[in-house]
Amino acid sequence: LPTHYTLPSGDQIPAVALGVWQASKGEVGQAVEAALKSGYKHIDGAWRYANEAEVGQAIKNSGVPREELWLTSKLWNSFHAPEDVESALDDTLNNLGTDYLDLYIIHWPIAFKKDSTELDEALTADPYPTWKKLEEMVDKGKVRNIGISNFNIPRVKNLTANPLKYQPAVNQVELNYWNPQPELLEWSKEHGILLEAYSPLGSNTQVKDTLAIPEVREIARELGITPAQVIISWHVQRGTVVLPKSVTPSRVEENYHVYPLPDNLFRILEKKATAHPPQRVVNPSKAYNLSFDIFDDYP
Ligand code: A2P
Repeated sequence: LPTHYTLPSGDQIPAVALGVWQASKGEVGQAVEAALKSGYKHIDGAWRYANEAEVGQAIKNSGVPREELWLTSKLWNSFHAPEDVESALDDTLNNLGTDYLDLYIIHWPIAFKKDSTELDEALTADPYPTWKKLEEMVDKGKVRNIGISNFNIPRVKNLTANPLKYQPAVNQVELNYWNPQPELLEWSKEHGILLEAYSPLGSNTQVKDTLAIPEVREIARELGITPAQVIISWHVQRGTVVLPKSVTPSRVEENYHVYPLPDNLFRILEKKATAHPPQRVVNPSKAYNLSFDIFDDYP
């Protein structure tokens, strides 16, 4: 299995990352330290997770040199106005105790007005002004790669129809057994956009069900690995970055070890995952008070 993927910039992004969404203050730091001890080099965070400073402190405590790490963060919805982007990024850099990010991502294809949760319709319909500012951050050396998150195909096209200086290097989306998004995966490969799988185990609500799937258990038994390792390996074998979240040191260690699944077993799992109607684990449209579904076409 690939240990890294090469982005358009030439940078090599590690295939397995520790995800820190829903890792609360007081527990995220020890999870990051456990991950770095286990050999992880890639931490996927966000300003919105409200735990960046503790992540930064854990990185510092680990003594791992900055240049060996891959740090990703995300621009929150309320900072899409071009004049707000750089200060939002600076806040993240300050939290993490670094002067550059390896990857900075637009967290949602949804812009809020400053300091509010009211939709900014113009910047939601057209993210190009926000993107141009991210391109400027690349040129300034504050970020090495830029990407998007939670963009469906029409929204990606809506962005890439503009004369971009840098194409989105990645699109971070929900990918798991329940919502495997095979069309988006194929389309993204054709267009040179690497997908990153969040909630790869089904997030806390569905992880138990995922790990109990008979085929997953059977493959785990056959290969002598754990059900979580089967699922995480399946993601990498599909050609995505995978971001399992855990704050349990033994699971953090377990999740880092991926194994190539024999073709026939990979196909069994892929077929089973894509045979049922897709069921999303994450959709904050209501929480964001949107009158439309984020994953529907918009505008
Ligand atoms: P915890 O953080 O308490 O260890 P996802 O990555 O899909 O968002 O899933 C995260 C959820 O899965 C968390 O509840 C996490 O629990 C749990 N989890 C992570 N790794 C494993 C594992 N190897 N075995 C069982 N549960 C796991």
